[in-house]
Amino acid sequence: MIVLGIESSCDETAAAIVTDKKQILSDVVLSQEEHKVFGGVVPEIAARSHLDHIDDIIEQAFQRAKIKPDEIDAVAAASGPGLIGGVVVGVMAAKALSLGLNKPFVAVNHLEGHALVSRLTNDVEYPYLLLLVSGGHCQILVVKNVGDYERLGTTIDDAAGEAFDKVAKMLKLGYPGGPMIEKMAAIGDENRFSLPHPLRGSGDLNLSFSGLKTAVRKIIESYGNGNIEETVLPRKDVADICACFQKTACECLLDKLLLATDYFKEHYPSGRHIVVAGGVAANLYLRSRLEELAKNKGLVFAAPPIRLCTDNGVMIAWAGLERFQKGYVDELDFKPRPRWPLDIDAPKAAGAGGVKA
Ligand code: KG4
Ligand code: ZN
Repeated sequence: MIVLGIESSCDETAAAIVTDKKQILSDVVLSQEEHKVFGGVVPEIAARSHLDHIDDIIEQAFQRAKIKPDEIDAVAAASGPGLIGGVVVGVMAAKALSLGLNKPFVAVNHLEGHALVSRLTNDVEYPYLLLLVSGGHCQILVVKNVGDYERLGTTIDDAAGEAFDKVAKMLKLGYPGGPMIEKMAAIGDENRFSLPHPLRGSGDLNLSFSGLKTAVRKIIESYGNGNIEETVLPRKDVADICACFQKTACECLLDKLLLATDYFKEHYPSGRHIVVAGGVAANLYLRSRLEELAKNKGLVFAAPPIRLCTDNGVMIAWAGLERFQKGYVDELDFKPRPRWPLDIDAPKAAGAGGVKA
């Protein structure tokens, strides 16, 4: 079985082809550079850029895979959640191919793409405990099966990646902030500033990064006249702030994941893996701390290769393939969804638009 996956829900235009033998035949990603000057993604610019490049990216995916379009079995597209202008571009391209090639269309939840990709790359089996940390989302879930999730906790304000991006912006490190913070943190002193751990000991598995971000802002403000725009910090201090922020943000995630692990072991005794996914999963500091946690709890840590942590077409193709294998396909009148919680599954939710083939 061969599936094409299309991703266009944020600022990556991507297409990839994967097989049920877990081969990645092609993986084409174009990261839009246009947003860098704005310090964040501009939805209208993103949508136009997807439109300009999507045909070429899909063509390249077929060329690199060395297969003809009619050799695929299904076309999958990230159909939400995300910036709706971009999502519509990818979904329309997928529907056009589906119609022209007479192959089924599979609407994939972008988060499910992140959630399932480590089954392709690391042979992870259901059920597993998942920390999903991206620019728009931050959740702890049990992945029971395709489209079957138990959400244990979520952020009540910023997503983890969003917090990295906002702190990077305050420190004038550019966008996206995560990779730059990680780079600076490597040369900083992670014990210099003491930062708060919001919601530590709250008794639930929810997360919050807003207070942490504010604490960083206050440190930066203390250097200048109170106007953060005009404040330029010495490089060493920037590195120290990055190291302290990265450590604290990761500890916030680890605290709650530790509690989640106990719940997971008790309620899902057959489960073996702790998985991290989403853009922030590319962070090596977080990965090594999670590996340590999993080891201490007698579980196996798994994470996709770095390039498959941030948005890509492979994860959409793979999630589409898993859905297709289960017989889940979607009609061509499927409406892209700006919001689409992962624990509300299309094929099972009444009137949600999904159909079982
Ligand atoms: O999954 P993704 O590509 O897009 C969304 O679905 O949101 O995640 C992008 C996010 C950005 O916030 C970016 O700063 C963050 O992932 N990120 C990182 C790293 N690489 C990307 N955060 C921390 N450390 C990294 N190395
Ligand atoms: Zn993503």
